[in-house]
Amino acid sequence: MKKVIVANLKCNPKTLKEASNLFLVYKKIKSQAKIIVCPPFCFLERAKEVFKQKPNFWLGAQDCFYQDRGAFTGQVSALQLKSVGVKYVILGHSEKRALGDTDKIINQKVKIALMAGLVPVLCLGETKKAREQGKTFDLLKSQIRACLQGIVKNKIDSIILAYEPVWAIGSGIAGELDDVLTAILYLRKLIAENYSKKISQDIKVIYGGSISSQNADTYFNNKWIDGLLVGGASLDIKEFSEIAKLI
Ligand code: PGA
Repeated sequence: MKKVIVANLKCNPKTLKEASNLFLVYKKIKSQAKIIVCPPFCFLERAKEVFKQKPNFWLGAQDCFYQDRGAFTGQVSALQLKSVGVKYVILGHSEKRALGDTDKIINQKVKIALMAGLVPVLCLGETKKAREQGKTFDLLKSQIRACLQGIVKNKIDSIILAYEPVWAIGSGIAGELDDVLTAILYLRKLIAENYSKKISQDIKVIYGGSISSQNADTYFNNKWIDGLLVGGASLDIKEFSEIAKLI
């Protein structure tokens, strides 16, 4: 199974010129991984141009709205993203949750993204507080239930799950392999209970949170972890190249 690397550029870089330069260096990376580049909306077109001859590079967005069109100032719909060549969309990222996205809203976004033919990269993960209180599994269970509510069997394997413990994002403290694996196997168990054993084995589940070239291969080498979601390190071209070259 092909490993996946999602590069979440967040609200970076500052200008189109800087974004172009970054994409041009990305383009030279030799990797067997499927690399999903998720720049801010305004740089998608440029990314599309740069990566058009690169079969292992794919375009991703960092969010979409839960309506197709209409009077929703500032929003971008899944259909609109699809029409400019986007294939993947990150949904439920903790930084979007912090700005107001609830599980219910995320569920609506997952549904509309699937309808538009996008692949949602659905982020799930416990906060530091939940972890300290021993509530990681409870939280993952309620997130899975709510975010996947109404998603039927033949759609579920078009979703990538990203286990992203909130405390690991941007903190420099990545989850220990054992803990990450326990959480990922738990997510797969929930999928088995709600869908089927086969789907729980086939569905892609990736990890994100403080990935660097120093720790990436620990996760890549595990058969239950299908890849990585890389934030900060995706802006450091040397780091990112080294991560991608591990595959
Ligand atoms: P990070 O971000 O790699 O900077 O921790 C991960 C993420 O965006 O989820």
